Amino acid sequence: MGEETPADAGTPIVPLEIEILTLFPGMFTGPLSESIPGRVQSRGLAAIRVHDLRQWGLGRHKTVDDYTYGGGAGMVLRPEVVAGALAALRRSDSTVILPDPGGEVFGQARAHDLSGRRHLIILCPRYEGVDERIRSTVDLELSIGDYVLSGGEIPAMVFVDAILRLLPGAIDAASTTEESFTAGLLEYPQYTRPPEFNGMTVPAVLTSGHHEAVRKWRLKEALRRTAARRPELLAGRPMSKEEARLLAEVGSEEAAPREDEVGVEVDQ
Ligand SMILES: C[S@@+](CC[C@H](N)C(=O)[O-])C[C@H]1O[C@@H](n2cnc3c(N)ncnc32)[C@H](O)[C@@H]1O
Repeated sequence: MGEETPADAGTPIVPLEIEILTLFPGMFTGPLSESIPGRVQSRGLAAIRVHDLRQWGLGRHKTVDDYTYGGGAGMVLRPEVVAGALAALRRSDSTVILPDPGGEVFGQARAHDLSGRRHLIILCPRYEGVDERIRSTVDLELSIGDYVLSGGEIPAMVFVDAILRLLPGAIDAASTTEESFTAGLLEYPQYTRPPEFNGMTVPAVLTSGHHEAVRKWRLKEALRRTAARRPELLAGRPMSKEEARLLAEVGSEEAAPREDEVGVEVDQ
């Protein structure tokens, strides 16, 4: 980044700036102004600007879409409209993101990566999507899963929410370092009051006050949950000696017959 010039002096440097290009700006009002996204912006950690794509629409009627060549249902976002918007907003430090069901599946590693960038532009197509020739002008195509939504707005909110909470100062750092996916594991179970609910009690170790015992229990339960629900996350993940030992313990506990199964005869 260049040195502050007199013209910049006094202008606070916002760590992350995000531009959202949409035909439905109103969709963003609630999700981006409440809770963590709202707080992050009011603390000056990020600035989010939502732009109505129609301002780059063509002709008197500000047309943004047209029929698909070759026939078929649905309209396609015209490339000149998107190119006009990008020409106005793109900077040398921009990353342009296109939500697309065929893109890279968005995950926590990508959220971390994007939280360290300076300027994101997220284009939100509607209808059948955007003209194919726009793909070569974007930096990243991201999907939020194998299903089709009506437009890029909800995926954009997903990206922005996941990114903002990772900005330094957004939330308690311990929350983001221990939560699911950050360490390549699902998070351990969490409990709050009351100590007993519907006959289910809180594991005694959590109320023991032994920090080291709590840490070990949490790590072991994170390994247990990941092995049971998302074993593929463990496959390519380097493991410490302690983790390998705890996982082996989990394996033998799961293999052993549970107390309630011992001595139970099954009717033939
Ligand atoms: C109705 S969808 C278009 C779907 C497109 N015709 C197809 O079959 O792949 C309109 C827009 O919503 C967004 N979208 C829909 N589902 C998505 C997903 N799973 N991940 C990311 N973006 C999605 C994309 O921007 C897409 O261009």
